[in-house]
Amino acid sequence: MSGTYVRLEHEAGIVRLTITRADKLNALDRDVLAQLGAALLEAERVADARCLILTGDGKAFVAGADIAQMRAMSADEAREFSRLGHRTLDALERLPYPAIAAVNGFALGGGCEIALACDFIHCSEKAKLGQPEVKLGVIPGFGGTQRLARRVGVAKARELVYTGAVVDAAEALRIGLADAVHPPDQLLERVGATAKTIAEMSPVAVRAAKKVIREGEGRTLPDANALEIEAFAGCFTAEDQREGMAAFLEKRPPKFSGR
Ligand code: COA
Repeated sequence: MSGTYVRLEHEAGIVRLTITRADKLNALDRDVLAQLGAALLEAERVADARCLILTGDGKAFVAGADIAQMRAMSADEAREFSRLGHRTLDALERLPYPAIAAVNGFALGGGCEIALACDFIHCSEKAKLGQPEVKLGVIPGFGGTQRLARRVGVAKARELVYTGAVVDAAEALRIGLADAVHPPDQLLERVGATAKTIAEMSPVAVRAAKKVIREGEGRTLPDANALEIEAFAGCFTAEDQREGMAAFLEKRPPKFSGR
């Protein structure tokens, strides 16, 4: 390992992961991806974790996969690199609790793909997002051809991927790539407020909702609805359901245990 590139902090159920390779605009080489994967495992084990915020140090969120490292790759090495990226971003997407990308600057290539693997994408007004891989003679390799299309629709994804266009935060919001845009100096505070709102809900219910929404994607509606029925019923085996409904009826705020 040539350095430490991912910082994990947590407080009051909110886990923050920061990619800290600012001198290279947080570009993703094998080490950064491996450290991100390890940090996600750690994030999964944080007791009482309720929401994750993922961001980047410096002026970039992540400016993409590391071009200097990719330059000399053989096709076999590129396949392994793409698999590593996919494993890491699948782990992010499957995190049992919600993740918010706090896109503080450039989110290009692999950076946009990381954001796409989160539940929400909140951008600073300075953010720039895109999949510019075709300018380098390659295509997105960490899920961009698939997750981008699922988020913004196939036609818009084609446009972005074929032209390599980089969009600003306002355009990202307009096309449904971003969910919210904030002033740069308020980004983390505003994302933190959303995370806190989620953290106040029943963790059992939020985790169940995330699982059903994710696993329902790509299934037929009857199959997906069958998942919902089971997950809904599963909530009734937890303390949170009894507490949430009792609190409503007793006109007091709930105290969720997450069990
Ligand atoms: N891979 C490797 N290094 C990268 C990188 C990447 N994806 N993106 C930025 N860097 C490095 C630069 O090479 C530079 O390193 P150096 O200081 O040793 O020369 C450093 O990060 C700062 O980047 P720089 O280009 O000087 O910053 P800028 O503000 O002028 O430009 C960008 C910012 C994002 C427009 C520009 O860095 C860029 O186009 N990066 C590549 C984006 C991309 O194609 N991503 C998809 C990769 S598949």
